[in-house]
Amino acid sequence: MRIKILSDNNERFNKIRLAVLDQDSSAEVSGGLWHVDELPAFIDGSGPDVLIVDGATAKDMPALEALGQRRPDLELVLISEEVSADFLMRAMRAGVREVIPTSMVKDSLQEAIGRIQLKRSQMQSTRSDGKVLSFLSCKGGSGATFIAANLAYSLAAGQGKRVALIDLNLQFGDAAMFVSDQRPPSNIAEVCREIRRLDASFLRAAMLEVTPDFHVLAAPDDPSHAPDVKAEHVESIIRLACRNYDFVVVDVARSLDALSLQALDMSDMIFMVAQLTLPFVRDSKRLINIFHSLEYPSSRIRLVVNRYVKGGEITLADLERTVGQKVFKSVPNSYMAAASSVNLGIPIVKGQRTDSISKALIELAQDLGQRTEVRSERSGWLSHIFS
Ligand SMILES: Nc1ncnc2c1ncn2[C@@H]1O[C@H](COP(=O)(O)OP(=O)(O)OP(=O)(O)O)[C@@H](O)[C@H]1O
Ligand SMILES: [Mg+2]
Repeated sequence: MRIKILSDNNERFNKIRLAVLDQDSSAEVSGGLWHVDELPAFIDGSGPDVLIVDGATAKDMPALEALGQRRPDLELVLISEEVSADFLMRAMRAGVREVIPTSMVKDSLQEAIGRIQLKRSQMQSTRSDGKVLSFLSCKGGSGATFIAANLAYSLAAGQGKRVALIDLNLQFGDAAMFVSDQRPPSNIAEVCREIRRLDASFLRAAMLEVTPDFHVLAAPDDPSHAPDVKAEHVESIIRLACRNYDFVVVDVARSLDALSLQALDMSDMIFMVAQLTLPFVRDSKRLINIFHSLEYPSSRIRLVVNRYVKGGEITLADLERTVGQKVFKSVPNSYMAAASSVNLGIPIVKGQRTDSISKALIELAQDLGQRTEVRSERSGWLSHIFS
């Protein structure tokens, strides 16, 4: 573990350092005499796992809170003379993990380091090999959300996978409504507002449980909450979800902003959803050019044609030639069945299994489910929470 100590007193710094090494002899301990105002410079680039701030007071909280927002994975431990309920509450809100009274540094600090060691070893023992599948429409209304949501359901219900669906359409996301008529308990903006609390149980509690194995992290109800979600939050959420699900399906907004790019960067497969009409073909070409400029390899990109009807003026071959990418899957047009599924909030693959769309999506789920090796039994506290 990399542990940094911030203290304004040399003697105390050494005392804390020795107590830490006594508990964890393999720890890389660094730090020195710094003031909390210099926190960003103290932390940036050094990436410690644990930061111990000695002599913390209430006036340090804003700086600590800002740090917690930027580095939600950092374990913050304060050593303080202040142990009032109000101080502890503020520390908790700032995302501080432990507050240790100055008078009890040695034992309490060692216990705290022991708890952090335990948590980290348990987290490492849970495998983090969930596959990230991102979906985005080449042009608005192509059916990206519909396909993402139904495929996610199908991977869980038909393939026995554990699946998370994350809605990154922060302005007008509606993915949860495609698979459920229930109101999500929370949403991604609310999770990001309290990103310091992000762990398996917090994420799980924020998600809508569609089935025991299929959970949705919904978009905010109010589009004005979209700015609460930052790219680094998206990274933490996807990374955590990968530790707990076999598939993390992300409905990515077409805007290709920092958040979308964060999700796409982390994706094992990027599904571009198009239709066979000229505006879609043109925008598919534009999108693939952007992917090329981002140096995403073609092997990661999957072109899906939705609402496919044989015999149209533009053929699958035309699209493939224009985009320079093979069509991975075509999903037939079936207006009534799709509209009814969306209106009722019942996945089409559940309510209308024999419909042509369902057949295509079930096939796609089988294909993806078989390609991806079945994960071995999970272990550790995260899996207990999630199971
Ligand atoms: N294969 C299909 N056949 C018929 N209708 C479909 C099909 N797929 C999707 N639809 C319909 O298209 C509508 C729009 O789909 P959806 O919201 O998934 O598009 P989108 O690409 O996510 O749009 P946006 O860019 O606005 O996010 C859905 O409400 C659904 O009724
Ligand atoms: Mg959509």
